[in-house]
Amino acid sequence: MFTKPTSIVAIYPGSFDPITNGHLDLIERGARIADRLIVAILRNASKAPLFTVEERMEMLREVVADYPNVEVDSFDGLLVDYAARKKATVIVRGIRAISDYEYELQMALMNRRLRPEIETLFMMAGEAYSFISSKLVKEVISLGGDISGLVPSCVEERLKNRLLGDAR
Ligand code: PNS
Repeated sequence: MFTKPTSIVAIYPGSFDPITNGHLDLIERGARIADRLIVAILRNASKAPLFTVEERMEMLREVVADYPNVEVDSFDGLLVDYAARKKATVIVRGIRAISDYEYELQMALMNRRLRPEIETLFMMAGEAYSFISSKLVKEVISLGGDISGLVPSCVEERLKNRLLGDAR
C-alpha cells in the first residue's frame, strides 16, 4: 500500500572540499523542500583533499548556521546505506552542465538499484553558480586569481591561509 512519508529527510552528499556558493544555493533550495536536510561529507574518498573532513564540517556548520532544518554530518561506505540509517528517502544532487549528467545518472541508477525506495532529486545549479567547482576555485586562488563571490567569505579566508600562506 502507498503511504506518503509525513516528514521528508533528505541527504545532500558530497566532498565539499571546500563548500562553494553553488553548494550553498542548493542547500538553501533543498532546505525549502525537505523537512530535514543532512549535508553529508564522504569520509573515505580516494582523492587527496585540501581540507580534512573535520575542517570541512566546521566550515559547513558555520555557513548553514542560519538554517534550522539543516545538519552537517559525515559518512563512510555506501551512500544509500547511510541514507537508510538516517531514515532519509531523498538524495539531493546538483547538476551544473550536461557534463555532470552522465556521472550523476550512473550514480542515481546504481543507488536506485541498491535501494529503490530512495529517490535521487536533481536540482539545476543556479545560473550564477553553474561554472563554479571546488576544484577550479582552488586552482584560481592558488594562481593568484580573485575568487570573491564564489565561496562564502569564511571559506575564502581559509583557502587563502591554506594555499597562499605567507605569500599573501
Ligand atoms: O562531491 P562529489 O565528490 O561529486 O560527491 C560524490 C559522492 C560522495 C556523492 C559519491 O562519491 C558517493 O556517494 N560516494 C559514496 C560511496 C557510494 O555510495 N558509492 C556508490 C555510488 S553509486
